Amino acid sequence: MAVALLVAAGSGERLGAGRPKAFVVLAGRPMLEWSLEALRTAGIEDIVVAAPPGHEVAGCVTVPGGATRSESVRAALAAAPPGDVVVHDAARPLVTEDLVRECLAALLGVDGVVAAVPVSDTIKEVYPDGTVARTLERSRLWAVQTPQVFRAEMLRRSLDVEESVLAAATDDASLVEAAGGSVRVVEAPPENIKVTTAADLARAEAALC
Ligand code: CTP
Ligand code: MG
Repeated sequence: MAVALLVAAGSGERLGAGRPKAFVVLAGRPMLEWSLEALRTAGIEDIVVAAPPGHEVAGCVTVPGGATRSESVRAALAAAPPGDVVVHDAARPLVTEDLVRECLAALLGVDGVVAAVPVSDTIKEVYPDGTVARTLERSRLWAVQTPQVFRAEMLRRSLDVEESVLAAATDDASLVEAAGGSVRVVEAPPENIKVTTAADLARAEAALC
């Protein structure tokens, strides 16, 4: 049986809604409720939510999040029952039940699975002064999202690193990769956006209404 960690402890500074982003009302309910529904419909019963201190989420184990996203993941994992682990950002409310199921099903013979989209833009590596260092081979590039699914022990070991390393990690899979774990991608819908700005929130609202 899989468990889910829903990270919802960020402050949502770039959205600037005056309250933590995961608790901003989106299409009639707090943003994190959309992810909770997709996870539950995918058959996941045990969900640990990392939330800002003082926020409780009904029907879930709630733990206070950490100073960084990875620390919130670590705090949630510490409170999770045994089982493969689905990590998901509450900031991706358009996640689907199908995507959660596909990621779980792909956890065969690997340590981790990430939802991702092949990039359609050409990506260049650029020096701080604006000069281009190189153009990357687009056919091999994927933009990574959540859900990300891991064997619990592998994730636990990967998160057992210094705070500075955790703070620099932009996703969980990169820590698993650094620990020597194997990770594969599952193609995800591009609609599974991360709500970062007010424009993203409007886009998510339009998709859900
Ligand atoms: N997150 C978390 N704990 C943190 C920071 C982030 O649980 N200390 C979660 C957020 O709640 C979000 C996800 O990680 O679901 C992705 O982070 P991001 O989109 O950056 O959200 P915020 O940190 O809330 O937004 P901002 O960076 O604009 O403040
Ligand atoms: Mg953030």
